[in-house]
Amino acid sequence: MVAGRFTLSYLFMSGAIGQGYATVSTDAGVSTDPSGYAEWVYLSPGNMNVYAMQNFGSVAINDQAIIAKSVIESFYGRPPKYSYWSGCSEGGRQALMLAQRYPTACEINAITEAVIASCDEEDGIADGLIVDPDACEFDPFSMVGKTFNCSDTGVEIQISHPAAMVANVTWSGPISANGKQIWYGMEKGTLLAGSDGYAAGIASIECSSNGNCTGQTGNSGAGWLQSTVLKDPSFNLTDLTLEGYSWLMHLSEVE
Ligand SMILES: *[C@@H]1O[C@H](CO)[C@@H](O)[C@H](O)[C@H]1NC(C)=O
Ligand SMILES: *[C@@H]1O[C@H](CO)[C@@H](O)[C@H](O)[C@H]1NC(C)=O
Ligand SMILES: *[C@@H]1O[C@H](CO)[C@@H](O)[C@H](O)[C@H]1NC(C)=O
Ligand SMILES: *[C@@H]1O[C@H](CO)[C@@H](O)[C@H](O)[C@H]1NC(C)=O
Repeated sequence: MVAGRFTLSYLFMSGAIGQGYATVSTDAGVSTDPSGYAEWVYLSPGNMNVYAMQNFGSVAINDQAIIAKSVIESFYGRPPKYSYWSGCSEGGRQALMLAQRYPTACEINAITEAVIASCDEEDGIADGLIVDPDACEFDPFSMVGKTFNCSDTGVEIQISHPAAMVANVTWSGPISANGKQIWYGMEKGTLLAGSDGYAAGIASIECSSNGNCTGQTGNSGAGWLQSTVLKDPSFNLTDLTLEGYSWLMHLSEVE
């Protein structure tokens, strides 16, 4: 098993280069020997190298795309208009990981536009507002796989399953580890990903011009948990589990 940078990747890359494309491949920082799996997958016998596994699994693949787009932009003076994925075998799994792990603000905005288009006129007036969001029956998962034109970049992209998940959980509101509703959700039609110049949506995703998109923690929610519930403003919430979050929200309510 290899991430890339071996005979077949170079073969595919040379074909694309011949047609004028800029191409990139990565070894994900691990062995390029297809039978060299055992060399890097353990830190010591029986002890998995989780970071190397994560790099191999998805992180390096996304980093590779970001770095390549950034190099292309600095060399040609503009970002690539279209980006394509090519790979076989392991490459199929990698492509699925990329699509599943890195939804973009564009997708979230497209779902928001679709729910407004679907429920706007339920009150008889087309004004871009959903007057009764609870009566709006729109399934974000019906959007998965649909292609649309991202107005931010002018590039066509498809709505991924994780993007629909983000919309669904944000509309539902947080549910605790034992299935209890912790807090209210956002009304359908809310700008989940934030808006231009004020990207403070509840499901904010910040994308730089090189296509690096990362989820942003909502400041008020995180600050509340850190400063008032944990009483430690520097507490690192990155690895908070659903159980941990449920417990903090419970403490918040009790206090
Ligand atoms: C992407 O953005 C995140 C957050 O700003 C940053 O930590 C990370 O280093 C960036 N990755 C790349 C490959 O530029
Ligand atoms: C997408 O939108 C951009 C800008 O709004 C436009 O220039 C481009 O032609 C559109 N592309 C498609 C495929 O509709
Ligand atoms: C979407 O949210 C609803 C309400 O919380 C939930 O019942 C449903 O299971 C969610 N769908 C998926 C596919 O997660
Ligand atoms: C928070 O934790 C994450 C994951 O453990 C780590 O990558 C990050 O550097 C930490 N942030 C700070 C500010 O310490």
